[in-house]
Amino acid sequence: MWKLGNIDIKGKVVLAPMAGITSAGYRKYLNSFGVDICVSEMVSDMGLIYQNKETESYVNFEKDQVITGVQLFGSNPENLAKSAIIALKLNPNIDFFDVNMGCPVPKVTKTGAGSSIMLKPSLAGDIIRAIKNVTDKPVTAKIRLGYNEVNFKDVIKELENAGVDAIGIHARTRKELYAGEPHYDLIKDLRKETKVPLIVSGNIYTLDDAIKALDITGAEAVMVARGGVGNPFLITQIKTYFETGERLPNPSFLEQCNYCLELAKSMIEEKGELTAMRIYRSIAPKFFSGFANSRTLRTVLATSLTTYQSLVNILDEFKQEYLKV
Ligand SMILES: Cc1cc2nc3c(=O)[nH]c(=O)nc-3n(C[C@H](O)[C@H](O)[C@H](O)COP(=O)(O)O)c2cc1C
Repeated sequence: MWKLGNIDIKGKVVLAPMAGITSAGYRKYLNSFGVDICVSEMVSDMGLIYQNKETESYVNFEKDQVITGVQLFGSNPENLAKSAIIALKLNPNIDFFDVNMGCPVPKVTKTGAGSSIMLKPSLAGDIIRAIKNVTDKPVTAKIRLGYNEVNFKDVIKELENAGVDAIGIHARTRKELYAGEPHYDLIKDLRKETKVPLIVSGNIYTLDDAIKALDITGAEAVMVARGGVGNPFLITQIKTYFETGERLPNPSFLEQCNYCLELAKSMIEEKGELTAMRIYRSIAPKFFSGFANSRTLRTVLATSLTTYQSLVNILDEFKQEYLKV
């Protein structure tokens, strides 16, 4: 058990924020696998201030049993604080706020937001202070190792002085984007140095990845990001292991088909069939690797999905093939 501000958290799994993926429908289904905390896609402070309808839709979700944070991005402390107030007016179910200090995308960094904040550790602190001034909800920050140079310890110091409630760290620099091995060696025993709970991120694809990341860093929790896309059962594997010590086997082909269909339903309920299935062309193939004929199945899913029924038909066809081999 650990604490996110005044909230008790039992387990070790955080569903990471991923723009374009972790929408309310995605989170709702993945949460059911045993997530402890989840985070929205990143939400622009100015989008909320200017009442942009799409931005507002990101903060509109139903109350979930899983603790749910909204991740804000921006570079100006006052605007970020204003946007937190607006978000809470739109949706009082928000449990906490996270601030994006890690996004490497130029469209974001050129405005001084995302990982650019790592270049100005005192700004990181000012942002947390400003948001904490306007809400009693816990406020967390998601950082990287640094922008080009590694400077996360300076940033952490400022965040802690400002009263941050927990820190998420992606063990790569901005320059490294999402590629290559994350540098867990650089955050070895980091939890011994932080005053607040730590959540670690970077290449969590298997139960053993999670065990290793927690063991090296001493963190309270790991973030499941790309590793959960097409493999929601990873969440159950991590949760079960840390509760009981049991290592659950990987799901079968038929189980993956079922998970793939259920996630599709949840996303359709949220976004409507046309939009959900367009997005699903990049998600559905990820459910199928390492099975017989799965390369062909991935290609078909990536190119031919149009409706929920088309997903059912494709999977039915491959189930027949699979049962033959
Ligand atoms: C498509 C995509 C979108 C992402 N969007 C966000 C985001 O909005 N906010 C954020 O803090 N991190 C974002 N991330 C970073 C992830 O939360 C995570 O830290 C990163 O992918 C490393 O974990 P992994 O190697 O296990 O995927 C994104 C990553 C991906 C791949």
